[in-house]
Amino acid sequence: MRLFPMRLSLLAPVLLLLSRANVIPAEVSIRKPNIVLVMADDLGIGDVCCYGNNTIRTPNIDRLASEGVKLTQHITAAPLCTPSRAAFMTGRYAVRSGMAGSGAVQVNLFLAGSGGLPPNETTFAKRLLQQGYTTGLVGKWHLGLNCERRGDHCHHPNQHGFTFFYGLPFTLFNSCIPGLETDILSWLQNALEKLSLLLAVGLFTLVCVRAGGLVEISARLLVALFLLGVIAVAVWYIPFGFLPWWNCIIMRDQEVVEQPITMETLPHRLLTEAQRFIQRNVHHPFLLFFSLAHVHTPLFCAPPFAGRSRHGCYGDDVEEMDWIVGELTKTVDSLGLTNDTLIYFTSDHGGHLEDSLPLIGQRGGWNGIYRGGKSMGGWEGGIRVPGIFRWPGRLPAGRVVDEPTSLMDIYPTLKHLAGDFQLDRHLDGHNLMPLLEGKVYRSEHEFMFHYCGSHLHAARWHPPDSDSIFKVHFVTPNFFPLGAVGCYDTHICLCHGDHVTRHDPPLLFDLSRDPSESRPLSPDTELRYGEVLHRVAEAVEVHQRSLTDERPNQLTMEKILWRPWLQPCCGTFPFCACKEDSRTTGWSSDCPGTQ
Ligand SMILES: *[C@@H]1O[C@H](CO)[C@@H](O)[C@H](O)[C@H]1NC(C)=O
Ligand SMILES: *[C@@H]1O[C@H](CO)[C@@H](O)[C@H](O)[C@H]1NC(C)=O
Ligand SMILES: *[C@@H]1O[C@H](CO)[C@@H](O)[C@H](O)[C@H]1NC(C)=O
Repeated sequence: MRLFPMRLSLLAPVLLLLSRANVIPAEVSIRKPNIVLVMADDLGIGDVCCYGNNTIRTPNIDRLASEGVKLTQHITAAPLCTPSRAAFMTGRYAVRSGMAGSGAVQVNLFLAGSGGLPPNETTFAKRLLQQGYTTGLVGKWHLGLNCERRGDHCHHPNQHGFTFFYGLPFTLFNSCIPGLETDILSWLQNALEKLSLLLAVGLFTLVCVRAGGLVEISARLLVALFLLGVIAVAVWYIPFGFLPWWNCIIMRDQEVVEQPITMETLPHRLLTEAQRFIQRNVHHPFLLFFSLAHVHTPLFCAPPFAGRSRHGCYGDDVEEMDWIVGELTKTVDSLGLTNDTLIYFTSDHGGHLEDSLPLIGQRGGWNGIYRGGKSMGGWEGGIRVPGIFRWPGRLPAGRVVDEPTSLMDIYPTLKHLAGDFQLDRHLDGHNLMPLLEGKVYRSEHEFMFHYCGSHLHAARWHPPDSDSIFKVHFVTPNFFPLGAVGCYDTHICLCHGDHVTRHDPPLLFDLSRDPSESRPLSPDTELRYGEVLHRVAEAVEVHQRSLTDERPNQLTMEKILWRPWLQPCCGTFPFCACKEDSRTTGWSSDCPGTQ
């Protein structure tokens, strides 16, 4: 009698193993999906073929759309990198995390500033990590690095839920290529440059005059002027002269592995790291955020894509980016992960119009029929971006959704897919799955708010009883020169003060009839005019009341400026320089490119 239970207990582990083996197929089919998020930098919605551009070749992005769901009204929470990415990561408007500035500076300008995504913020990566995902970020971060000293890495991706990081803690900037015109505090750089030039010329003249014996000038005055000149040059040159070293670096997790960046090999290295991350995690649910360096300036314009497109260097860059997206998709497919992997493609905001003057050669994105672009508050061109979801195991192929959706929806969508039903803070996004699967046809976004830094510039209303998409502009940027669409005097539109016009009554458009925002509505042309203004004003009030948990502003001038003690550095500061040990030297010559 006693033997039997003992036998059973001996058998138990074996039985357990057998039963485990039996349920493996079931486990595989209900396993949490892998998530691959691909975000392009500064890509306009008009730069992609499946969004209406028939002169550019983006076959790989188009294929994701035809095999999945394409969103035509996918809206970023801000028209600039840092606030848009902060909102994307947290599922909340950037003002809620303090990542929206009130003055001229709206993004981190130096890697050695102290502002960034606060360590106690919750990102979708943190959420998924808690649900057992392996999480990785390859590419651009641009949400801060250090708080108080070099190496505290309080804003680092590793602090925000990404266990693996390879890429740019900062962003690409023109300054990454010495000699290109600068885009960081250029007015200050120019002023300092002029000042030192003026001093040099003045000094030279004085020395000549003195040598000629025309006027008596004390040697002391000359020395003082000379010293002043040296100081001016030093201040101008440090830190600005070293911008490629200060800002253009590559990190692998907590370590600086390249300073400054070798641009030629960067696209290849980012792609390879993203592919390796997927390969390492074939047997485990993973989240990969592949945050592309393309198509921000400076453009790559390197073989084999240089000269291939019909749109100059910029078009070549778009086609190269599309090829990278294709290679990544191939990796997912070739590992048999197609049906278990949600691939998402988007851009952080619209194309940069001031960089797109045909005269100087296009260097910024194209926003199609939409008015405005990067950094222009509420104008559609700055905030409407591609949004594509491919997941053949779960989502229909070729579906198009025209309802308003937001990049802030990614956070709640991923949370839902990971089976995380814990209570959260107030989120501004909504789970997109019902809309993507076609279970519902209306978006939960009745109202959306369009910020320029911490300033509310516009709001949209999609009334539940109508197909209209009303957009109300309270504030618009002042374009220069008159008649232009763009702020060509400042290179980028600013959000505040004399740089904007306040509208009272506000400008009103119906995007469903006038997507280019070219004909403002009036009480004579729109029956619901009064009602729309009233309802939107109410919604704005409710929204603003919900901003009680505002965090300290991370983008004040004081936090943004370069400080030597926060500068990440390989080597002994200030002698920072290193090159990644890598056998990859750019694209192989047999790279197929686009057909
Ligand atoms: C396609 O994109 C390129 C690159 O931005 C742009 O120059 C061109 O005007 C676009 N063409 C169309 C038809 O939208
Ligand atoms: C996060 O930290 C900031 C400052 O360090 C503080 O003001 C804020 O209340 C904190 N938020 C939470 C949710 O703990
Ligand atoms: C992937 O899912 C689709 C749709 O459910 C199905 O038709 C296809 O056979 C699946 N492919 C694999 C490899 O399981």
